[in-house]
Amino acid sequence: EKGGFDHFMLKEIYEQPRSVKDCMRGRIYPEKGKVQLGGIKEFAEKLKNIDRIIIVACGTSWHAGLVGEYLIEEYARIPVEVEYASEFRYRNPIITEKDVVIAISQSGETADTMAAIEMAKERGATIFGICNVAGASIPRLTHAGVYTHAGPEIGVASTKAFTAQVTVLTLMAFYMAQQKGTITTSKLIELLTELDNIPEKIQVALESNDLIKEVAAKIKDSTNCLFLGRGSGFPVALEGALKLKEISYIHAEGYPAAEMKHGPIALIDEEMPVVFIATQNSSYEKVISNIQEVKARKGKVIAIVTEGDTEVKKMADYCIEIPDANEAFLPLLATIPLQLLSYHIAVMRGCNVDQPRNLAKSVTVE
Ligand code: F6R
Repeated sequence: EKGGFDHFMLKEIYEQPRSVKDCMRGRIYPEKGKVQLGGIKEFAEKLKNIDRIIIVACGTSWHAGLVGEYLIEEYARIPVEVEYASEFRYRNPIITEKDVVIAISQSGETADTMAAIEMAKERGATIFGICNVAGASIPRLTHAGVYTHAGPEIGVASTKAFTAQVTVLTLMAFYMAQQKGTITTSKLIELLTELDNIPEKIQVALESNDLIKEVAAKIKDSTNCLFLGRGSGFPVALEGALKLKEISYIHAEGYPAAEMKHGPIALIDEEMPVVFIATQNSSYEKVISNIQEVKARKGKVIAIVTEGDTEVKKMADYCIEIPDANEAFLPLLATIPLQLLSYHIAVMRGCNVDQPRNLAKSVTVE
């Protein structure tokens, strides 16, 4: 049942080239520069005139939401707010019939996310769901939605469901941009052609597994770990930190790299591993200066870099390469080595990776 892998989590990490592909199947037409999302088709007209999107979710799904914010704002130019469902539901949020709420939930059963949907629905918003489990409670509560089609996820720590959520949000961002006319067909042809190739690049990212295992062995006894990134690398850092803490029980925090100097920098010494998302994109130079700040304080730097990078290699203690890609697709690739890193550290620490203590696959209580 684990298909030759030691744990479900590892099997599910390795399934990602296929699960991401399944998620895009029948939805993208690279040669035509067209995205088709049957699940939300009846709202295609409405999407042309919406003023705002609110994304509600918990945990890993909330991190996917932050990636969605970045992509929807960038391509569809619609303002997005990302909310923890548990906070949103207990405020008195301002929601109108003009709002679209996107609820993201792997299981489709998360109590706080369901309550947030119900409240937004009562106030007249249109609710879209992004869910992995067909027929679960959330898809039944929403007006429309897009399934992630990642297949069942057994490991409690979400891996392939997260990348599938990010894939759906990427498709939604392009779909909305297409509806609103904020993107040209030629740009969509270019982006979709590249997106179509992302599963192969995820496969390449997985090939760093042996190196990642070596890095894991070097930092497995740490008591703390920082994850830093900028732009869409920031939610990737948050997700990397969450994965490490939930399965290895190492205290980890994700931060926007530039925020380090406003507090967390005080923590840095030779005992502190700092994982950077340092790929070659618009924030590359800035991330390099953040790496220098950590090295100046003798922190141990592990960097996720673009294939062929030479600059970061001069500074970092360990570099893990991922294939080059448009910034829009960075989260889909940079997440992979972080999943493997957490996995190996947890195994080396003797943790139960598939069933971490105190955690459940569906959180049906508030
Ligand atoms: C972390 C993890 C949790 C879930 C969260 C929301 O690996 O799996 O943080 O993401 O409990 O669950 P869903 O997506 O089912 O609503």
